[in-house]
Amino acid sequence: MTASKHFHNFPQQIEPAEWFSLSTAIQNESMILNTRTTPEDLATVYNAGLAVVLEQNGKIIGFVALWPVAKKYLELGSIWIRPDHRGYGLGKQLYKQTYSLPSLTDHLVFAVTQNKVSLRAGQAAGFMIHTDWSWPIPWALTCGPCDKWKSEKEKHLCPWRNHTCWLYLSPAGLN
Ligand SMILES: CC(C)(COP(=O)(O)OP(=O)(O)OC[C@H]1O[C@@H](n2cnc3c(N)ncnc32)[C@H](O)[C@@H]1OP(=O)(O)O)[C@@H](O)C(=O)NCCC(=O)NCCS
Repeated sequence: MTASKHFHNFPQQIEPAEWFSLSTAIQNESMILNTRTTPEDLATVYNAGLAVVLEQNGKIIGFVALWPVAKKYLELGSIWIRPDHRGYGLGKQLYKQTYSLPSLTDHLVFAVTQNKVSLRAGQAAGFMIHTDWSWPIPWALTCGPCDKWKSEKEKHLCPWRNHTCWLYLSPAGLN
């Protein structure tokens, strides 16, 4: 028998131990930003109504967060599906689940990734590639966190933008 999977968001409660397991799992992922992966980080963003958990048998098997990076801007990140559940459309469903988060109203939601599978999952869910890295999302939020090209003046030098690194926007939120 296959146990059913459920998407949760706050106020549905998650066992504290699950944040520890999730934290350990995503800290091993090279493409997940490692500055916001502690159990406290994950529980806090979830309790703020800004994250979705995919659960099976009481265990977290998927996660996505909309990290508040500036007023009116949320960065979709930390998207993760447990390795044995990858490739079945669950990543795409996680992206879609973010549309119904109540905290989304009045925010622009964007994502930056070098992971092509994550990009595809986002696109399949309705996210759109955006090639202007300075508008409407300020440069400081799109490329700023990358340690390779520190200043907006150098942006034309970056060989990765739109080739192996992508910016994409959610159709939900501000319009
Ligand atoms: C990114 C991630 C969440 C995607 O989850 P997933 O459940 O495997 O993705 P899906 O099954 O929804 O697939 C999404 C799309 O990618 C495609 N895809 C899935 N696995 C693929 C693979 N190994 N190679 C190429 N394409 C693949 C699917 O065909 C689908 O595209 P389509 O809808 O056009 O057919 C998952 O791979 C993951 O947790 N990766 C590690 C963490 C990570 O790097 N997160 C991203 C940080 S930016």
